[in-house]
This record gives sequence, structure tokens and C-alpha cells, in this order.
Amino acid sequence: MDRRNFLTTISAASAATIASATTLSAKADALEDAMVEQLDKRRAKPSHCFIEGRPARDPDDRGQYFQRYDPALPVLPDQPTLMDFYKLRFSTNHVTQSARLAKINGSSEKVILACLLHDVGLHIMGTDHGYWCAQLVRPYVDEEVAWAIEKHQALRFFPDPEYDYEYPEAYIRLFGDDYVPEPYLKEEHDRAKNHKWYGSSREITVNDVYAFDPDITVDVEDFTDIIGRHFKQPKEGLGFDGSPVAHMWRSIIWPNNFL
Ligand SMILES: [Fe+2]
Ligand SMILES: [Fe+2]
Repeated sequence: MDRRNFLTTISAASAATIASATTLSAKADALEDAMVEQLDKRRAKPSHCFIEGRPARDPDDRGQYFQRYDPALPVLPDQPTLMDFYKLRFSTNHVTQSARLAKINGSSEKVILACLLHDVGLHIMGTDHGYWCAQLVRPYVDEEVAWAIEKHQALRFFPDPEYDYEYPEAYIRLFGDDYVPEPYLKEEHDRAKNHKWYGSSREITVNDVYAFDPDITVDVEDFTDIIGRHFKQPKEGLGFDGSPVAHMWRSIIWPNNFL
């Protein structure tokens, strides 16, 4: 195995363990663990697909499949708010860190909200998650926010020195150093570059790459005011307002329904 290639493909955690091992045998053990990790190429899935085990059967339940609430998932209120989704469904620390950085960097409130929302589409689909996310939130936010989220899908693959944005090193590890983004992403990037909201979407990518600090936890409640001012919460609850995207919110509430 080529040593340099191998080291670019292991996880950051494995690389850190190897680097910090103080004895030769500890280093060898860490290296072996990293090689075992490499044996399985991973497939991305929405996080709610990672529920492990089989929930116990309710003795009064005669159905073969869980329909409505899977007992492995927390129950949402009948009229769920965006905040309920952050607390009971979304994995939040990356997006809250990203919104915090946007705040520190002096971004507008719309961009801070866009950063807070930019990856929640991953809870529906990893592929093209920026598009899924923009669609999910479009009825409830200013069009600039939805547009910026949608275009981050393409912009994150392309450097922009004017914004000090480089191709993320993590992508070399995650996808290999020979990965080339699909042509549709290049075309989307080229179109977005001349758009009046290009800067808003580019700011998402800038605040994205530094928002993976394992030592920082950012509470979503820090953004309660911004959500209140810029996210039009439907009174019937997300998923139940009859909007064209209500089914997408319901799919996050009940991801394991059979039908
Ligand atoms: Fe993203
Ligand atoms: Fe992200």
C-alpha cells in the first residue's frame, strides 16, 4: 500500500491517534486500527437511518411494521416548530458552529440563518443535499436564504481566493485525490458566480469548512431571535401546513413509516 495515499484516506481521528502514539507498539496498534477502518468503504446515509437494534414489541400492537412513531425516536409535538426539529431530529453541532462563525465574521442575519440551515437537507438525502435543503425551507425563508443554501451544493467544490476559500482538504480524504465534481456542479458554480447573491452562498462555504471543531458545542437556542425574525413558522406546525414541502418535514418526523 502506498504510504502517502493511505495517510490521505484515513479519518482525522485515526491520523491523530497515530501521530500522538508515544511508543512504537502503540503506533503499530493505531496503524492497524486505521487499516481495519479502511477495509470498509463507507456509504453515506441520512443520520436517522442509523438507529440500531430492533425496538421491543408492544404486546397490544398487532402490526408487522412500525407505522407512525418508531419508539427508537423521540416524539415531536403535534405542531412542531423548527426548534423542535433541531432538538429532536437534526444533528446540530456542525450547523450551529457554522452559524456562530457567520455571526463572528459579521454576516447578515439572513446568511447566519442560511448557515444554521445549510445542511439539514442531509436528514432527507445526502446526494445533492443543498438542493433538498433549499426545497425544504423555501416556503418559510427569504428567497436569498434558499438560493444561498441551494448553491452551496456546487460552490463548496470550487475555490475562490477572493474569499480565501480553498478546496476542502477533507474532500481529498473523503472522496480520493482523483475525484472530480460532476459537470453539472461546475456549470451551476459558473452561473452562480455572476449572481447578485453569490457572496451569500460563498459565505456559507467559508463558514462551513471551519465548523467541525470537536471541542466547541454551540446551542441552537443562541439563534432563537434570528429564527424568530427570519423563519416563518407555520401555526399548524412544519409537516402539517399543507405546503408543497409538508411531506418532506413529515418524512423527517416519521422516517421509518412503511408507507
Ligand atoms: Fe453542505
Ligand atoms: Fe456543512
